[in-house]
Amino acid sequence: MNKFLVTLIAGAAMSGGQLSAMQTADYRVVPLPREITMTAAAEGFKLLPTTKIAYSKGDEQQKKNAELLAEYIGGLTGLKLQITTKMPRANAIVLSADLAGENPEAYALTVTDRMIKINGVTPTGTFRGVQTLRKSIGEPVAGGETLTFPAAEIADRPEFGYRGMHLDVSRHFISADSVKRYIDILALHNINKFHWHLTDDQGWRLEIKKHPKLTEVGSKRSKTVIGKNWGTFDNIPHEGFYTQEQVRDIVRYAADRQITIIPEIDLPGHMQGVLAAYPHLGCTGGPYEVWSTWGVSDEVLCVGNDATFELIDDVLTEVLDLFPSEYIHVGGDECPKVRWKDCPKCQARIESLGIKGDDKHTAEEYLQSYVINRAERFLNERGRKMIGWDEILEGGLSPNATVMSWRGEDGGREAVRQGHDAIMVPNNYLYFDYYQTEDTDGEPLAIGGCVTTEHVYSYNPRMKGLTDEEKSHVLGVQANLWTEYIPNFRHVEYMVLPRMAALSEVQWTDPESKDYTDFTTRLRRFMKLYDHEGYNYARHLFNVRGEFTPDHATGAVVVKLFSVDGSPIHYTLDGTEPTRQSALYTRPLSISSDCTFTAAAFPESGIKTRSISETFSFNKATNRSVTLLQPTHSNYTYKGPGTLVDGLRGVGNIRTGRWLGFNGNDMEAVIDLGAEQELSEMELRTFVDRDDWVFNARGVAIAVSSDGVNYTEVASKTMEPATADSPKGIETFTLTFEPVKARYAKVTALSEHNIPAWHGAAGNPGFLFVDEISLK
Ligand code: ACM
Ligand code: ZN
Repeated sequence: MNKFLVTLIAGAAMSGGQLSAMQTADYRVVPLPREITMTAAAEGFKLLPTTKIAYSKGDEQQKKNAELLAEYIGGLTGLKLQITTKMPRANAIVLSADLAGENPEAYALTVTDRMIKINGVTPTGTFRGVQTLRKSIGEPVAGGETLTFPAAEIADRPEFGYRGMHLDVSRHFISADSVKRYIDILALHNINKFHWHLTDDQGWRLEIKKHPKLTEVGSKRSKTVIGKNWGTFDNIPHEGFYTQEQVRDIVRYAADRQITIIPEIDLPGHMQGVLAAYPHLGCTGGPYEVWSTWGVSDEVLCVGNDATFELIDDVLTEVLDLFPSEYIHVGGDECPKVRWKDCPKCQARIESLGIKGDDKHTAEEYLQSYVINRAERFLNERGRKMIGWDEILEGGLSPNATVMSWRGEDGGREAVRQGHDAIMVPNNYLYFDYYQTEDTDGEPLAIGGCVTTEHVYSYNPRMKGLTDEEKSHVLGVQANLWTEYIPNFRHVEYMVLPRMAALSEVQWTDPESKDYTDFTTRLRRFMKLYDHEGYNYARHLFNVRGEFTPDHATGAVVVKLFSVDGSPIHYTLDGTEPTRQSALYTRPLSISSDCTFTAAAFPESGIKTRSISETFSFNKATNRSVTLLQPTHSNYTYKGPGTLVDGLRGVGNIRTGRWLGFNGNDMEAVIDLGAEQELSEMELRTFVDRDDWVFNARGVAIAVSSDGVNYTEVASKTMEPATADSPKGIETFTLTFEPVKARYAKVTALSEHNIPAWHGAAGNPGFLFVDEISLK
């Protein structure tokens, strides 16, 4: 008789007539382990209430690993596994750290019928294996179900030694308990460095015993600007700091989870919190307030003042006492030099140090280098290493500095060329304060940009064009979360999850094994663990994605739809929201008449997704050939000129790829209708968002031609310069004219070349965004 059947019958007997279900662990977790070899001959390890977790007596780190594993398994299964230091022969999960290997975070996870063994090169490696085992369970095991770990051998190690995640607690204070929850989230993603941005213009958050006003005054602001520095304030005091006792507790909490905390004290800019407390440390003497708006403040530490260096040394002394980390971050970013230029004390310092500006850098930039160099010497003398933002390259790098490359990759590239170490945090891939979807309607306000989970996943820190030696100086990768627009911890979770999952594969997984589609499948399972932990994660990934391609032969638009895991997609053509009863998408659709197309994905697990909707309007220009006589801005070129006549209208933001953007140029589009046609109307739409320097057209015109050489203007309209009260959003221009026969139409929209004086960007060219042009 078949053994499988016997098992089923036994199961039925045990659970009083009902078949007991079985849950099977899956080792293809996030981040994906390097090697998983399934052992076909064995059945696997069954977790029982009597299973023990064992480690060698006296090993405090393994004791902590064992306790955490018991906690994780307890949460997922309800079993309270006993921890023992007597080595059982079977029915145990054994933790050890005597694996041979170079990489301290490598581990082997071996599952047989009798035992699960997690053996790290160090206890840190064991802990990473504990996370893999935890994640392999995938979702809570219902009461009465058995959990089986299939027999397997896993050999795993990280790709990068530095795997970081940053959190700004200055712009919005995050409570000590929430910081611990953040650390839990980091541990779940195999992250080993927590970059804690503790000080900034908007609040100093670290108790310093020798200078109590830093927190008494510097941790409190009276109000916060509403939105993007629009001049209105909430008038709600915002404050908070961590006592040294809390910091020690958090450092220990992180260490138990094999995470090092790298504190950042941002020097010599981003210091208005300090100046509010100690105004004599600023060039003007103040008064200063803890800043209530966002941006880069001109008020920085006065470097001509000896007391400034005493404060820096005192702060760093207490920081070193609190944080055992080898690396200490001293910032160095975004330090305007306007005050130093006018400050007699700073100029005297430049004089006394013999600093001279040259064609590479100003004297003030060299002065900033002096500050950072001095901080590095202070740290090096005490056995620590310094990290700074990539601005520390300006004015010459201090001898042993590690550069954190945030303004794209250039800083990292330059640092490793100079033989320095670099950590890659390029904002265009790894700033998690950016939007996570192009469809920003309905999203909470974000700083801007767009970094999708897929885009994060695509990042490769091994930059092209580097030698192997230079590549070896890339220590690793980190993502940053600045909290100007993130007022609470639920929102922090929303911004980092699931992008942190994509980050974790960039940091940990063998690049050869990276595959986005496969990742999304594993991520779906991982999200059940997010659910179990109650994390607030973004679900954009489940939304249907559409690809709309013009079919030039027929003039139709071909619609292809995609969903994660192939969950079913339903659509309508009448503008209504699709339901599971609407038409099922099974293959690409060809649309050739006016309609509103709406589609949505329906994942099985009750996840609510957002639909996508397109209003198609076909006209004589649709999907005809377009040539642009002046170029688009490189960031807003998308699929090129055809975008203007692809039958798809731009919607309410400029990042969707629907609007073409021009800056310093005008839009001049020549549309070839293929043959002479009668025309009597041109419609063109623009998008206006002056907060982002996007202005309306200053004039539109249409000229027609039969030969594509000689054009006759048939209609035009000019517009006055914008005022602060001019309309925003989508504007439609309709030009009608006497019917005329033509094959070519040249449509022009003039951009604002000189932003008016009342605007913050006065004198610069404004952006012009255009879509869609129609001809009737
Ligand atoms: C930074 O984003 N200012 C480092
Ligand atoms: Zn000064």
